[in-house]
Amino acid sequence: MERTLAKDTVHAVGNSVKLQGWVHTRRDMSKVLFLDLRDRSGLVQVVLVPSELPTDQAELMQSIRPEYVVEIEGEVKTRGAKQVNPNLPTGTVEVLAKNLVILNPSKTPPFELDDTRGVNEEIRLKYRYLDLRSPRMQKNIRERDRMIAFFRNYMHAHDFVEIETPILMKGTPEGSREYLVPSRLHPGEFYVLPQSPQQFKQLSMVAGFERYFQIARCFRDEDQRGDRQPEFTQLDYEMSFVNQEDVLSYTEAMMIAMVETLYPEKTIIAKPFPRLTYAESMERFGSDKPDLRRNKENPNELAFAWIVDFPMFELDEQGHIGATHHPFCSIKEEDKEAFMKGEDLMSIRANAYDLVLNGFELSSGSIRIHERELQKRIFDLLNIDEDEQQRRFGHMLDAFQYGAPPHGGFAPGIDRIVMLMMGEPNIREVIAYPKDGNARDLMMGAPSPLPKKALDEANIQMKK
Ligand code: AMO
Repeated sequence: MERTLAKDTVHAVGNSVKLQGWVHTRRDMSKVLFLDLRDRSGLVQVVLVPSELPTDQAELMQSIRPEYVVEIEGEVKTRGAKQVNPNLPTGTVEVLAKNLVILNPSKTPPFELDDTRGVNEEIRLKYRYLDLRSPRMQKNIRERDRMIAFFRNYMHAHDFVEIETPILMKGTPEGSREYLVPSRLHPGEFYVLPQSPQQFKQLSMVAGFERYFQIARCFRDEDQRGDRQPEFTQLDYEMSFVNQEDVLSYTEAMMIAMVETLYPEKTIIAKPFPRLTYAESMERFGSDKPDLRRNKENPNELAFAWIVDFPMFELDEQGHIGATHHPFCSIKEEDKEAFMKGEDLMSIRANAYDLVLNGFELSSGSIRIHERELQKRIFDLLNIDEDEQQRRFGHMLDAFQYGAPPHGGFAPGIDRIVMLMMGEPNIREVIAYPKDGNARDLMMGAPSPLPKKALDEANIQMKK
């Protein structure tokens, strides 16, 4: 017999079906056992009565516990009017078991799987495969998939090409510490993991693709917060022959379409999205990610806002100059003269923009430099000497000599979007296998020491 999914039992009244799934709950009523059986489609009630089962199965029936994996053949029956459960999509039916197979028993899980929100997070992460069985986590991960599918379709419908870019690469300056990967074949040399595909997406513009996107994994060795993970995912994209207005309006239309298609119950409180300059936002809200919601108690209110005209340069705690976003941003036309003269660097603005949602930075991007001399000028102002420019960015400077088109792009953080749409307090709730607050994978136990042989092969000697 073919398997029937729980949700389809409502269309199979009077039929024999075979169900396979997990025991969600068991309720003992003297001689009768009621199970809620769970599969990927939902729940259905199963009734086990010893007299309906083969004689040798009465004992087996009693041994069933929550989270056992079972196969049940039985007959779908309509429930009496009083037994209907209006809270369950299959609440009008139940399956009277005629045969039972235990496919695999289960230990008692270390926590209740119904709602794991209140459970100690270390234990949830250690047993993530059980945590993920809970209805809320199933929903979050499936919503994430819906979101990614939406963006992928949208991008393809607008002539973007998905291009995979390397994970083993040379550093890209996104402002965070990088994860290092020792090279076995080249002792003393290292790859680093990408903080983002920034350079590859720009090089893909030089390569003539004009419209690139990628659901891109990024790696940053930085301190963890609720909206930060050491690895996270961007909807990364880049477009040629565009100005800032083009990138903003493409993005805005996509975000509105995403909300209207996937979350019609939510309201975007201002369309078009309000625009603030960085200076205005800092002055009025003391922040470059202001929360513009009118009613913060309302989970369906979405306040998107654009923050534009970010300063090109900033000073770190030691007073060293750095790029506010990254060194590939172009300079605003009005500020080009000061930029070429090297005057008043801190007031020079870039064609750089952020998208903010309910007080979170969703995304950053910019129109890039596509001329070699301007790019070198930025590196000069960042005190990167000629040698270092060649060593770190020679490929970019070279590429800009071969007909690099004007281009710009953006990179919304997928984890943050899903978190906000699902009303979750942090991005760990929308990542299947996240790291904890100390960047550890508590389930696998990573990071972990390696055997000496593996270290020797990678030419690594531990410091005493
Ligand atoms: P940026 O560094 O601003 O820009 O990153 C873009 C977006 O990525 C998300 N994000 C993160 N999400 C989770 N954990 C993190 N540690 C984390 N860091 C960043 C945020 C952020 O807005 N290459 C440029 C983009 C561009 O210029 O096109 C970049 O990576 O949502």
